[in-house]
Amino acid sequence: MKTINNIAVLPGDGIGPEVINQAIKVLNSIKQKYGHQWNYSYADIGSIAIDNYGDPFPEETLQICRNADAILLGAIGDPKYDNDPSAKVRPEQGLLKMRKKLGLFSNIRPIRVHQKMAHMSPIKEERLQNVDFVIFRELTGGIYFGKKKKAKKYASDLCKYSKKEIKRVAKLAYEMAKARKGRLTLVDKANVLESSRLWREVIRKMSIKYPEVKTEFLFVDNAAMQVIINPAQFDVVLCSNLFGDIISDEASVLVGSLGLLPSASRGKKHALYEPVHGSYPQATGQDTANPFATILSVEMMLRDFGYTAEADNIEHTFNFCLEQGIGTIDMGKQFDLSCSQVGDVMSVLIEEGENALRTNKLHERLSTII
Ligand code: IPM
Ligand code: MN
Repeated sequence: MKTINNIAVLPGDGIGPEVINQAIKVLNSIKQKYGHQWNYSYADIGSIAIDNYGDPFPEETLQICRNADAILLGAIGDPKYDNDPSAKVRPEQGLLKMRKKLGLFSNIRPIRVHQKMAHMSPIKEERLQNVDFVIFRELTGGIYFGKKKKAKKYASDLCKYSKKEIKRVAKLAYEMAKARKGRLTLVDKANVLESSRLWREVIRKMSIKYPEVKTEFLFVDNAAMQVIINPAQFDVVLCSNLFGDIISDEASVLVGSLGLLPSASRGKKHALYEPVHGSYPQATGQDTANPFATILSVEMMLRDFGYTAEADNIEHTFNFCLEQGIGTIDMGKQFDLSCSQVGDVMSVLIEEGENALRTNKLHERLSTII
């Protein structure tokens, strides 16, 4: 297993830098406690990179990412681009360019409903029992990257997939299903789309090699409904790029707050970890953003690289925070800490253990908090 030496840190736009700062506090506490020597190399992406370099994913950033073992990203996006269809460069292009250039072909978004948070979801609590699944989204192909055309009277986007592109992401999804509950659901539109029929063909063949995994097929329209009416049925959900984009936003409402959703994007050589939420420009600089999605992305990163005790520590500490009402306001009325306070509490708890809450340690270090 690869070890971590260098981490590329890309705070990005909006609340990105704030949530990244908390994740770095947590990483520093882990470093301290377990004696690691991780270096951070900071770089720009998104709107800030357009301001500084005229490019949302400049060469400098690409090089820093290439030289890193893992990449940690905050968020990208700025409203100044949203209502300007004529803008030639956009922050989002930085994300797409990064995915393509670094070959990050699989995007993994775990959807786990914590019982303490279930009441915050608009979905009835009884439907949220035992909801724990993972969305595997193909990230560097399909309609996002197919040939685009804008003519005078029409426009088109091509959705093209090769067998190879399907296989490489499906393999990772199958491996995960094998290690989890043994179910894989392919979400597609094979009743209409030729590219979806190819996905089914490839997955059917692969399923023979994974007899311990139960393979199922769902049309995307039905899947959109099933995610709401019976989300506990899923284990690993495999989707093409666009379907995965849509289904993962939909699934995020199950969890109660978008601020709790981490993600990983992996390729052959590189791996990127980022919160699922965007740059939330209205909250920029207010210290109100929820840093847990980024902190849990750090947990995913450490787990991927085999730092199991370290990842378990973050997971336990996060669960403890939920129980103790330590969190930001988007998580419910009883959670009333700021973004930076959550980072401070997490890092003290990681270093000192849960006793920090009961002893004076937390009070000493965080006299302004509790
Ligand atoms: C996501 C985002 C991006 C996507 C946008 C910002 C380009 O929605 O990561 O899900 O569509 O992939
Ligand atoms: Mn999206």
